[in-house]
Amino acid sequence: MTTAIDAPAAGARPLAGRTTVIEVRNLVKRFGEAVVHDDLNLEVYRGEVLSIVGGSGTGKTVLLRQIVGLDRPTSGTIRVFGEDLTRLDAARLQALRNRWGLQFQRGALFSALSVIDNIALPLRELRSLPDDLICAASLLKLQLVGLSARDADKMPSDLSGGMIKRVALARALALEPELVFLDEPTAGLDPMASDDYVALIRELRRELGLTVVMVTHDLDTLVALSDRVAVLADRKVLAALPIRELARIDHPFIREYFLGERGQRAMQALPAAPMAAPAGPQSGEA
Ligand SMILES: Nc1ncnc2c1ncn2[C@@H]1O[C@H](COP(=O)(O)OP(=O)(O)O)[C@@H](O)[C@H]1O
Ligand SMILES: [Mg+2]
Repeated sequence: MTTAIDAPAAGARPLAGRTTVIEVRNLVKRFGEAVVHDDLNLEVYRGEVLSIVGGSGTGKTVLLRQIVGLDRPTSGTIRVFGEDLTRLDAARLQALRNRWGLQFQRGALFSALSVIDNIALPLRELRSLPDDLICAASLLKLQLVGLSARDADKMPSDLSGGMIKRVALARALALEPELVFLDEPTAGLDPMASDDYVALIRELRRELGLTVVMVTHDLDTLVALSDRVAVLADRKVLAALPIRELARIDHPFIREYFLGERGQRAMQALPAAPMAAPAGPQSGEA
């Protein structure tokens, strides 16, 4: 039997002590006849890494696109930083957008712009800062993601896959966001570049106190980074829980994904005690 656990009641975790950064309520998304999301609920808390998993085509990217205001829900509400996205005019939506960074699978780098100009783009679009300041800030971001000033004038075609992901991340961090969205950030990377990227996200999250919402297929990335994992299945968020607790839910996707050979192997990397949990009353609860 399917155990559907809606996000509001997910694991019956108390909300006290946690700040909700994103709240998706009763979301319905249709494209014509096709129903992608049907009464989907999800919350994301400040300072956590929340990963979204689900089979191909289950609507992970469409969900992110709605949360960042690129797609409109058919019905339901989406609040980010307390603001209802569907009620904002264009100017206020843009102001809100400046509070988060995006690294989307298909939103790679502009091939005609150098590394530094790619990173500088969001700052230039603000039209409020002098260019020397923009260049200095962009160089800092480049270093933040582990690249050096020597890479600044390279063109995207000169970069390895891992470097491209880092530059895209630096661009996502250009406006010093509190929240970042990563869509398949390690897709296409070899295992070593992928491990390096995971270490980088971990470090940035610790140093900058970022809230991270990530879609990933990669079990190792998922296990290494996630505080909670939201499983998209049956057009809903089936559950949003720490991996260990998720693995106990009886649902075909969860069984196949987490309890298959690859899942079991990846889960061996889970630390004995919950690691780097966001501040809040997480222990001692049922
Ligand atoms: N603009 C669109 N118009 C029509 N259908 C779409 C559109 N965008 C996505 N879809 C459909 O929505 C479903 C979910 O897509 P997506 O979110 O990209 O899946 P994934 O979970 O793999 O990221 C797919 O069936 C896709 O074909
Ligand atoms: Mg996708």
